[in-house]
Amino acid sequence: MNCSEGGEGRVAIVTGGGVRIGAAIVARLHADGYRVLIHYRKSLKQAQALADQCNAARAGSAITFAAELGRIEAAETMVKAALDQWQRLDLLVNSASGFYPTPIGDISEDTVAQLFSSNFSAPLFLSQAAWPALREQSGSIVNIVDIYSESPLKDHIVYCSTKAALRLLTKSLALEFAPSVNVNGVSPGAILWPEGASSLSDEKQQELLAKIPLARKGETTDIAGMVAFLASPAAGYVTGQIIPVDGGRSL
Ligand SMILES: NC(=O)c1ccc[n+]([C@@H]2O[C@H](COP(=O)([O-])OP(=O)(O)OC[C@H]3O[C@@H](n4cnc5c(N)ncnc54)[C@H](OP(=O)(O)O)[C@@H]3O)[C@@H](O)[C@H]2O)c1
Repeated sequence: MNCSEGGEGRVAIVTGGGVRIGAAIVARLHADGYRVLIHYRKSLKQAQALADQCNAARAGSAITFAAELGRIEAAETMVKAALDQWQRLDLLVNSASGFYPTPIGDISEDTVAQLFSSNFSAPLFLSQAAWPALREQSGSIVNIVDIYSESPLKDHIVYCSTKAALRLLTKSLALEFAPSVNVNGVSPGAILWPEGASSLSDEKQQELLAKIPLARKGETTDIAGMVAFLASPAAGYVTGQIIPVDGGRSL
């Protein structure tokens, strides 16, 4: 199988593309020949550095776009920015996501609204805005879901529920957008430990690793490779599927 098949000249939007898994997706798609709109919210420096790197390799192959996601206007403006730049759109990757604990007793209206806004409304509104352009290219959408969309992570009721909603959104959009646009999801297992307030102790990390049959964390490139595959002609007959990339954790 050649995962890079078909990337030449195509255009992709990657949300949360400046850092971590999103940045690995940008790097992989760009290496496959895509031109890339790198969306970011706060990670301006990282997103710009990545765009500079892409443009040094191929002039005019990357732009950055800043937005707080979850509103229709931001979604429409982002799609328009890619179309203004390159006059086509082949792939939308929804990777940006909020992730933090919401222990019972401490769940507020604000945290529910925030997490649903970034993890559900953003992919929905972006897909809606991108659909006409994607349809012209027989393009694809890939949503980054989570293995915790199927079985809950303790103290993360709201996050898990948003990803469960994203899971069904992926299948619903696959039905709505067929036969012209394929919509799939990738469910990462443990790839990068959370940072900041959500970070895990060494003990907790070891506990999680012990539950993975392949006995190690995955790499960001494992997720990027699956995204590239789902967007390639090799996966042309695949739609509405959510593929776990989790070292067997969900077994
Ligand atoms: N890390 C893992 O092991 C793992 C495991 C399972 C699933 N996943 C999924 O894989 C994807 C990438 O994971 P990650 O750990 O690399 O992501 P992350 O660091 O948690 O977040 C990615 C980016 O999303 C952007 N973002 C968050 N809320 C936003 C909002 N309201 N508006 C606009 N942008 C927003 C942020 O961009 P700025 O930095 O620019 O603000 C952030 O850097 C996510 O969908 C995540 O749920 C990851």
